[in-house]
Amino acid sequence: MEKLCNFNHEFIIVHLLLFASLLSFTNPTPSPTQDEQSQIISRFQEYLRINTSQPSPDYKKSTQFILTLAESLSLETQVIEFVQGKPLVILKWPGSDLSLPSILLNSHTDVVPSESSKWDYHPFGAHIDENGNIFARGSQDMKCVGMQYMEAVRRLKASGFQPKRSLYLSFVPDEEIGGHDGLEKLAQSDVFKNMNVDIILDEGLASPNENYRLFYGERTPWWLVIKATGAPGHGAKLYDNSAMENLFKSIESIRRFRASQFDLVKAGLKGEGEVISVNMAFLKAGTPSPTGFVMNLQPSEAEAGFDIRIPPTVNAESLEKRIAEEWAPASRNMSFEVEQVKQFSLRKKWHSVRIKGWCTMFSGSVSTKFCGILQYISWNQYDYVLWFVQYFVLLIPSVI
Ligand SMILES: *[C@@H]1O[C@H](CO)[C@@H](O)[C@H](O)[C@H]1NC(C)=O
Ligand SMILES: *[C@@H]1O[C@H](CO)[C@@H](O)[C@H](O)[C@H]1NC(C)=O
Ligand SMILES: [Zn+2]
Repeated sequence: MEKLCNFNHEFIIVHLLLFASLLSFTNPTPSPTQDEQSQIISRFQEYLRINTSQPSPDYKKSTQFILTLAESLSLETQVIEFVQGKPLVILKWPGSDLSLPSILLNSHTDVVPSESSKWDYHPFGAHIDENGNIFARGSQDMKCVGMQYMEAVRRLKASGFQPKRSLYLSFVPDEEIGGHDGLEKLAQSDVFKNMNVDIILDEGLASPNENYRLFYGERTPWWLVIKATGAPGHGAKLYDNSAMENLFKSIESIRRFRASQFDLVKAGLKGEGEVISVNMAFLKAGTPSPTGFVMNLQPSEAEAGFDIRIPPTVNAESLEKRIAEEWAPASRNMSFEVEQVKQFSLRKKWHSVRIKGWCTMFSGSVSTKFCGILQYISWNQYDYVLWFVQYFVLLIPSVI
């Protein structure tokens, strides 16, 4: 059951006061009037009522809805179908200085399926109960974010604000099934290159309390397969350097490393997204027989696969070294392959240093992995993120 308490349960943030005292902003517009508030809620409900449930989302309706909103905000619009029937809607608010890189606010339009019979209210009814909670599939993940972008733009425009950098809003399809026909295609396209994006805001995690959390980076996945070879032998014989023995030495070493990372999280010293996670995904070994496996034979090959997640703050080279020297050393007749999403270089000074403690690293989602640049925020983009965050933060509580 997905329940949204008055908009405040997803995405970004930060404690407003901390930021307010850290930096000076343009003064925000006053809180919305009662009438504006109910319009904001109705627009949100309208979006929620569109059944964009996988596996057959109504993208026609969601596209039309977004375009209508964009028109009311005089934003430039573009609809791209890299794959037929899977539209990406891209909106643009041109900046005053076109030489500057732009900002992209991304959200996905699709939602995961729901079983209506298990819901208190219909998943696409957007019912509001007496406490002001809005019930709908996608209310948290992540239609609320898409609408917060829109409402923030609406308020900024109403206040006469003119951004220096161009601002793009993308509404992408199919995130819930991997994003391959949506954001992935966009990230590989010339359209994206021409947008000259320097920073992207995307989804985060729902917050169970009144704190908004800002995730300033995201871990990248590495899929590691290690392979051991060794002399085959009779199952009754004890000898050194069998494939299984060699593989198990590695698995033991990987497990110790995993425990050391997990201990940091358990002790509260690091967030879940700040450590390297390693989880075994498969084990492949043995000699098949008609009834299962040959039991009296030590096989000559054995493989294991691991899902590893690496925070951008971690030195990837040291992990590569660890893999080559400890987890799959050639000296133990082992080899390995890593399928990795490119690690993006950190640029300039990272504000994450400064606001450490209030911000945290996201533990991982599919939607953002395609565009590496979104992972990091540099000093000169910092104020832009903050004015945006500020508008979110000020907008949201004032709606409650
Ligand atoms: C949403 O639309 C799909 C596809 O048309 C349909 O199968 C599903 O039952 C709808 N979900 C609800 C809750 O109405
Ligand atoms: C590696 O393989 C070679 C050749 O089969 C063998 O002589 C050697 O003992 C093996 N070493 C280890 C550590 O498994
Ligand atoms: Zn999502």
